[in-house]
Amino acid sequence: MKRFQGKVAVVTGGASGLGEATCTRLADEGATVVPFDLTGDTSVDVTNEASLAAAFDKVVTDHGHIDALATFAGTPGGGPVHGLDANEWARVIEVNLTGTYLSCKHALRHMVEQKSGSIVTVASVEGIEGTEGGSAYNASKGGVVLLTKNMAIDYGRLGVRVNCVCPGFIDTPMFRDVMGSEGMSQYREEYREHHKLGRFGHPEEIASAAAFLLSDDASFVTGHALVVDGGYTTGMRTGLSSLMGLDG
Ligand SMILES: NC(=O)c1ccc[n+]([C@@H]2O[C@H](COP(=O)([O-])OP(=O)(O)OC[C@H]3O[C@@H](n4cnc5c(N)ncnc54)[C@H](O)[C@@H]3O)[C@@H](O)[C@H]2O)c1
Repeated sequence: MKRFQGKVAVVTGGASGLGEATCTRLADEGATVVPFDLTGDTSVDVTNEASLAAAFDKVVTDHGHIDALATFAGTPGGGPVHGLDANEWARVIEVNLTGTYLSCKHALRHMVEQKSGSIVTVASVEGIEGTEGGSAYNASKGGVVLLTKNMAIDYGRLGVRVNCVCPGFIDTPMFRDVMGSEGMSQYREEYREHHKLGRFGHPEEIASAAAFLLSDDASFVTGHALVVDGGYTTGMRTGLSSLMGLDG
């Protein structure tokens, strides 16, 4: 029996990168998957509450229920605070944090009525610890982590689990845009080195973590922020371990 047989899943940001990989994984495991993105069959902007509400209602009208939500829609952005335009701050918070809140809100309307459901939000290692120039992006992702814990508290008794994945640096179109930008490419190797497995992640590695948290295999897991980061957040590695013959 496939884990998501008979289940209906919505994946925001499902047209690209991590969201697309998660759509593929859930569909492979038997789910009916409805991607919400700016383009594609279900064109939804997660910052537009009216269109989001209507899109979730349509999923329930078309399929009868909504069992899983993964909120991958997101945008990079930020910079040192003293030079950060307030409009750029607001744009990043709007997509990453408000978009997550609105997506969860309109999925929860149905999940609360059903008394069942599972949500996976998407933060980042940059929602757990800071990075140079992170500001708006990191604040938005830190907000997603705490929003997730609060929703887990509020909806657990109603049969809804809410967890979060915190990816390290994963090779996607967003990653290539950021790492390929002027001034960033020279730091790419340092970011790679910071992952203790010595490489960047693959979208499928985030999809498998999201699928686990959404599935009944995680039936006693709620309010958890799962880092899937190749060891990025474990601590400092100077290379001293080379002296111990640990270079691999
Ligand atoms: N790639 C990484 O290294 C990495 C690391 C940590 C966290 N993340 C997070 O994972 C998520 C997915 O990132 P990705 O790397 O797959 O990026 P991506 O750019 O490949 O995909 C993001 C998708 O979100 C969609 N989107 C953006 N704004 C939207 C909106 N307002 N409404 C609906 N859809 C919208 C885009 O159209 C795109 O399809 C993001 O939240 C990102 O912050 C990514």
